[in-house]
Amino acid sequence: MKKILVTGGTGYIASHTVVELQNAGYEVIIIDNLSNSNIEVLDGIEKITGVRPAFVELDINDREGVRNVLESHPDIKGIIHFAASKAVGESVYKPLLYYRNNIVTLINLLELMPEFGIDGIVFSSSCTVYGQPDILPVTEDAPIKPALSPYGNTKQINEEIIRDAIHADMPFKSIILRYFNPIGAHPTAEIGELPNGVPQNLVPFVTQTAMGIRKELSVFGDDYDTPDGSCIRDYINVVDLAKAHVIAMDRMLEGKSAEKLEVFNLGTGIGVSVLELIRTFEKGTGVKVPYKIVGRREGDIEKVWANPEHANGVLGWTAKETVEDTLVSAWNWQKRLRERGIQ
Ligand code: UD1
Repeated sequence: MKKILVTGGTGYIASHTVVELQNAGYEVIIIDNLSNSNIEVLDGIEKITGVRPAFVELDINDREGVRNVLESHPDIKGIIHFAASKAVGESVYKPLLYYRNNIVTLINLLELMPEFGIDGIVFSSSCTVYGQPDILPVTEDAPIKPALSPYGNTKQINEEIIRDAIHADMPFKSIILRYFNPIGAHPTAEIGELPNGVPQNLVPFVTQTAMGIRKELSVFGDDYDTPDGSCIRDYINVVDLAKAHVIAMDRMLEGKSAEKLEVFNLGTGIGVSVLELIRTFEKGTGVKVPYKIVGRREGDIEKVWANPEHANGVLGWTAKETVEDTLVSAWNWQKRLRERGIQ
């Protein structure tokens, strides 16, 4: 059984990926400092897959700590690096925290990989690297625009660090995955997104408003150059997204590509506006979402959606779930949190 290290493995996208890795027969070791996640996620993973992944509570800034983990698991073949700080707004007033958490951690991992013979790293990047693309849908070779936040900048710098390390012939491969907007939860409702405090992202705010935890949703702007005036994004089901990581890991470890570095957009290819998303949620769940239109949110991109053909063709991966079914899965997760008295 191939062993994979998953950093940040109790986080939202990562926990869904651990499920898919275990279902595909990988053995998973998680490192997480639990700064933005909960240890009980491991129970959810175990309920779904029947297997509890190995877990080490550790900050990846602690390079000697990571070295100890790799020494006790000398047969780790690949890394999926999710661990990162991800709040765009917070990154503006805590930039050094973001640069340390998102950049030093990657350097630590890349430095240790050759020492332990680790063949490849899958890296969690974001469509944020494109800024507002000139051409939509956006392809992987679109120009990288100046980042609008320290968070966005860390993702650009992360990509450059990986590119430079590979260019310098370091002995590993990498696949960079640029996520569009991941939403939804596992169909069992055993794991899902668990935002800390007031959600910054749209879908957790929608489900909490539908549950009555928040009075109303603020729609940030209806005067954009889009058909209904609200922003457009490419909302991708988190389980579909998780499955792409397994394919990427197989591809690297089985040497299916001659390239040492590959980059893939992971999106549906369909743009959905904020107002459309609210209507789709209401249709799928039968629950109303009170909302009001407010001013634009600083730093928001007007519209972005993926051209996913590279991932479709080369990885043989396609997003399958509809936005409506995915929003229903997010709602089922919100209801589960209520049953457990969490939110
Ligand atoms: C942003 C980042 C993305 C990052 C993600 C993680 C950019 C361009 N994108 O995604 O890289 O990985 O955050 O948090 O920086 N909205 C409302 N009301 C709300 C919340 C959101 O109307 O209460 C709207 C936003 O204006 C936006 C859409 O919903 O149009 C999606 O917002 P959000 O879920 O925060 O994701 P992004 O900003 O696209």
